[in-house]
Amino acid sequence: MDFATNHEGQLTIGGVAASQLARTFQTPLYVYDIGAIRQQIRAFKRVFEEADVSYAVSYASKAFATIAMYEVAKSEGAHVDVVSGGELYTAQAADFPMAAVSFHGNNKSKAELTQALDAGVGTIIVDNFHELDLLDDLLGDTVGQQDVLIRVAPGISAHTHAYDQTGQTDSKFGFDLASGQADEAAKRILADDHLNLLGIHAHIGSQIFEVAGFEAVTQKLLHVLNNWHQQFGFIPKVLNVGGGFGIAYTKQDDPLPPEAFVKAILATLKSQSQTLNWPLPAIWIEPGRSIVGPAGYSLYTVGSRKDVPGLRPYVAVDGGMGDNIRPALYQATYTAVLADQPNAAPAEHVHLVGKYCESGDILIDDAPLPTTTSGDVVVVFDTGAYGYSMASNYNRNPRPAVVFVENGQAQLVVTRETDADLIKNDLHYAAPTEQPA
Ligand code: LLP
Repeated sequence: MDFATNHEGQLTIGGVAASQLARTFQTPLYVYDIGAIRQQIRAFKRVFEEADVSYAVSYASKAFATIAMYEVAKSEGAHVDVVSGGELYTAQAADFPMAAVSFHGNNKSKAELTQALDAGVGTIIVDNFHELDLLDDLLGDTVGQQDVLIRVAPGISAHTHAYDQTGQTDSKFGFDLASGQADEAAKRILADDHLNLLGIHAHIGSQIFEVAGFEAVTQKLLHVLNNWHQQFGFIPKVLNVGGGFGIAYTKQDDPLPPEAFVKAILATLKSQSQTLNWPLPAIWIEPGRSIVGPAGYSLYTVGSRKDVPGLRPYVAVDGGMGDNIRPALYQATYTAVLADQPNAAPAEHVHLVGKYCESGDILIDDAPLPTTTSGDVVVVFDTGAYGYSMASNYNRNPRPAVVFVENGQAQLVVTRETDADLIKNDLHYAAPTEQPA
């Protein structure tokens, strides 16, 4: 929630006043500070480089996937992971180097796997036996080999929202470890001429504030890899510890800098290295939120207001749960200011609500704000991850535009949807002339 201001005291993003962006591109609007994205990717890379450990910083593109974002990731030399044919298609449209793409998912379809193989995706992160069967089928007559990682459910729970936990044993993701399913998968892949096992993957959850889970998962995965080395003579090349590094949404949140998680992972790796008689693998991480979350801002215009005697007023803006479902879905909290007086002392506490026909359409339940007037531009911070990517057309509202700002220059990278876009897939219904009796 740190922000910059210009000499008039207006909030600026990437060197441009937020209210100016609102005037130029209208609201609701997603704005990204591209310098902040670059800085975070570089900060992650620096930790590995200083420790002299081979690595990949694989941006988890589910957090925010557009052609322009894949282009930024590409220009920073990041890898990306995709979780659907649609994300892969977008990365292809951005001309993202396919060798640096990992394909995730607990139920990849045959069509998606075909697309991935045809595109030459670098790594497929195999989640289950059904997927192995599909890959066998698809690779049956080919001569090439596909690099894969085995995703395991490591049996480690992260302290975060239940929907954001993925690493516990009772999870839909990954091969079970305790029952030996992961070992069976490794054995099967190692015997398969079409698949080349690079290593292992686990992701313990999202919006995590403590390093302990990452230390534990690193240890656990090294242990599994060591077993595979002993049992099968396997030499692991890659240990992928997933993403999930938490960010601050409000003053109450006090996360470590994202790089601190990587330092903890590397320290665990080093401390275990003497126990292994194989060379240390490359460490891959998959941060999504920590790369794009703090770089993203949502801009809205204040419209109506409802005052109820004795109760907190409702201040309504022109967006809401359609462009940011996180408060409704996870009770996520955010911080907001007025674009032109971001440092003004709060005059009241309001419910900052959206325009959607649902009582749960609350962006910030208790927002301390200066007195607002219809037409004021409100800026909500840290909406860069899982905002646009989870947006919907609920109530048939068009999705907002996305603007990238860097070095004082703003550029539209996703156009605002129009009413025509909303009906572009709709067909008229021709009722059968013979009505059933
Ligand atoms: N790797 C894998 C395999 C994942 O499943 C995820 C997120 C990530 C990496 C990136 O995690 P991050 O660094 O962004 O925390 N919609 C939810 C978050 C869902 C995360 C799903 N997986 C939210 O808005 O909080």
